[in-house]
Amino acid sequence: MERTGEAMEQAINYLKTNRERYLEELKALLAIPSISSDPERKGAMMECAEHCTDLLKAAGIENAAVKETSGHPVVTGSLMDAPGKPTILIYGHLDVQPVDPLDLWEKDPFEAHVKNDRLVARGTADDKGQVFMHIKAVEAVLKTVGRLPVNVKFILESEEEIGSPNLASFLEANKDMLNADFVVVSDSGMLAEGKPAITYGLRGMTYLEIEVTGPNRDLHSGTYGGAVANPAEILVRLLASVKDNQGRILIPGFYDRVIDLTGEERELFAKVPHDDAKYMSDLGVEELWGEAGYSTREQTGTRPTFEVNGIYGGFTGHGAKTVLPARATAKVSSRLVPDQDPDEIVELTEKFFRDNAPKSVSVKVTRFHGGRPTVTPIDRPYIKAAERALSESFNHEVYFLREGGSIPIVADFKTILGLDSLLLGYALPDARTHSPNENIHLPTFYTGMESLVRCLYYFAE
Ligand code: BES
Ligand code: MN
Ligand code: MN
Repeated sequence: MERTGEAMEQAINYLKTNRERYLEELKALLAIPSISSDPERKGAMMECAEHCTDLLKAAGIENAAVKETSGHPVVTGSLMDAPGKPTILIYGHLDVQPVDPLDLWEKDPFEAHVKNDRLVARGTADDKGQVFMHIKAVEAVLKTVGRLPVNVKFILESEEEIGSPNLASFLEANKDMLNADFVVVSDSGMLAEGKPAITYGLRGMTYLEIEVTGPNRDLHSGTYGGAVANPAEILVRLLASVKDNQGRILIPGFYDRVIDLTGEERELFAKVPHDDAKYMSDLGVEELWGEAGYSTREQTGTRPTFEVNGIYGGFTGHGAKTVLPARATAKVSSRLVPDQDPDEIVELTEKFFRDNAPKSVSVKVTRFHGGRPTVTPIDRPYIKAAERALSESFNHEVYFLREGGSIPIVADFKTILGLDSLLLGYALPDARTHSPNENIHLPTFYTGMESLVRCLYYFAE
């Protein structure tokens, strides 16, 4: 026990004395434009994977290596030097979202700069910064104590932001190599500055595009308007008919598998501090608009949604053009909760649009990626260990959250490898993930690394 304390202290001191170097090293990682959805960045994806392999090697994970897939690469590495102790599989993603709209960034999104205690760049919070924290927590222990208290394995993918299309088959093909006791994922957030959190639930998703086509060409809206169905109008009618005025989704069967919150869980949710007034002023809205009967955190963490992500068609240029467009398109998605099945929901959604479209138009549906929702058990010893590590490091109690975002591979860790995931996230609510000026709060970044060192030790107990 005493030894554990000393070892942790040495590693934590190392983190403190290396802060400047870590900041510079993180900037170098962030400088690689690893946008997985952009075919022009294929080289950057490989460069980023190689760069991380070098970071792992420098930390002391000597067998770190880049593994090719039919898409972007995966980085793996392991250090199995603690016989009889648990093995943790550390997962993170090296890819980032696109940076547009570029003009809303204060500086180049790949040239990280510090402002108001925050490091600003694409990938700081989601997720290169958080991956980096794990690598450096391991490095700090290896460079001081010389040996890790648990066995660790790393799996860093490069396709999370495009739905991890090749990772499930990588897990299938490498079950033995990835065998562990549980997965640690740092790709989520804290409740607020100084308020650490463990996330135990993520929503799943389905994503599709709906194209409505009417006449065989764009028409003069004066000559034909009034007699011919307008695809843009039909599309918005269809979209608007998905929900009632209480925010409930009217797609038949949509809620059939949704597991209602237990009274106990609602109590747990009620304990998490949340201020709707602040939430609204942060977002610049006068009112919230969600499913009736649920709190904001319940709505985003435990209820399924239907969202229009984008809608386009007809004339969108300068000035006015009188036209009845031949077609209109919307990109729509649903966030899913246990036990909804993405394949089933995509079927039901597609059927809803087909069944409700008038004969005056035709509907074409294209399906994109999906992922299953997860809720992981919170009564495990490693959860208690992480809770202790976080509360000691941040000097604050830990909140247990179900988050609205999706990390599709978490469900696959369970079904393919049989592993539950511990989601320890360090992004703050104003991290602006997927948005311009994404950032990580540096004091949280530094304290977070210390908490990860403590985790390694408490997992071993
Ligand atoms: N890190 C996020 C997911 C997340 C966000 C978890 C907030 C917890 C809290 C992840 O990188 C992400 O953005 N996922 C995508 C899903 C993917 C299939 C495009 C998402 O949620 O939209
Ligand atoms: Mn992420
Ligand atoms: Mn993301």
